[in-house]
Amino acid sequence: MAYKILVVKGDGIGPEVVGEALQVLKVIARLSAIDFEFKEGLIGGHALDQFGVPLPDDVLKNAQDSDAILLGAVGGPKWDNPAAEKRPEQALLGLRKALGLFANIRPVKAVKDLIGASPIKSDIINGVDLVVIRELTGGIYYGKPSERRTGAEGREGIDTCIYSEAEIKRVLKFAFELARERRKKLTSVDKANVLSTSRLWREIAVELSQQYKDVAVENQLVDSMAMHLIRRPRDFDVIVTENMFGDILTDEASVLAGSMGLLPSASLGEDVNSAGCRIGLYEPIHGSAPDIAGRDEANPLAAILSAAMLLEHSLGLRAEAEIITKAVEDVIHDGHRTRDLQGGGGTKMIGCKAMGRLVREKIESAES
Ligand code: IPM
Ligand code: MG
Repeated sequence: MAYKILVVKGDGIGPEVVGEALQVLKVIARLSAIDFEFKEGLIGGHALDQFGVPLPDDVLKNAQDSDAILLGAVGGPKWDNPAAEKRPEQALLGLRKALGLFANIRPVKAVKDLIGASPIKSDIINGVDLVVIRELTGGIYYGKPSERRTGAEGREGIDTCIYSEAEIKRVLKFAFELARERRKKLTSVDKANVLSTSRLWREIAVELSQQYKDVAVENQLVDSMAMHLIRRPRDFDVIVTENMFGDILTDEASVLAGSMGLLPSASLGEDVNSAGCRIGLYEPIHGSAPDIAGRDEANPLAAILSAAMLLEHSLGLRAEAEIITKAVEDVIHDGHRTRDLQGGGGTKMIGCKAMGRLVREKIESAES
């Protein structure tokens, strides 16, 4: 039986980086005799231009029928009008919500050969290996009301941050379970000194810790966490937090890895489909980078590593995922660098396509 993969490349550099990741999956399919059935769909700004909506119904339907979704990035200056009702980003938020993908996994690992590419001192980031679990379908991203209106003193904007006990519990459990498989250390991040949602979050984290006595739990406030993450990143293993804090902290954390162009992500829900796959959405954490789109300058490694996460988490193909990850490390070790990795001590500057090709060659030579 073929694994059904929906590929949504999106806007900006999305098509370039996902194009390379897709070719990597095709090489894996050939070498490991795995059958993939790829479908493509248009979302984001391109879908707005063609169909007038950021997430067309048939794309959503295809997503629901797939075993996994590989996504590039959405958005760009063309669709940035703040007064517009429809925005490319709604495609992403809509997919996450419709598929119930509440747990966003964002691993951050300092790559030895790239330590010099980070603006942070090497003795601080050497050995960093952490995972952020970001709650992805609740909080201020989805709370209602969320609108503009006119009040007594003129224009107002309102967003609502709301979390239910069930929403908090399931993502905390997910993080506790992951912590158990790793170094048994969990940092739960909130703003309990100010926000009600955070006080509930912390209360539940403390309650749940009774069921996970083998995991050491600490609660951190998000503002000081932003500092600790840069001053002593090695102290963290699994970090769990709500939607918006996770959005902000993971951009910050990407600096620890050397470049945002290296960081993949997986978003998972609870559902396992009839093929035994856990439906997931896989995307680089970087955006659509419209300034370099179409110039063969983007780093495809985050998209390629997202494809590796797809194999592991949705399809259970851990060995194949490992082959991709190893190939990426080897290519970096050989000194190949895209523009975003400047300062990494590499000597061979290459573009997006060449980077993708080198990764595929590594995979092929490893398998032969
Ligand atoms: C991310 C992105 C998205 C988010 C945007 C594009 C809506 O920043 O995946 O981190 O805020 O979740
Ligand atoms: Mg973000």
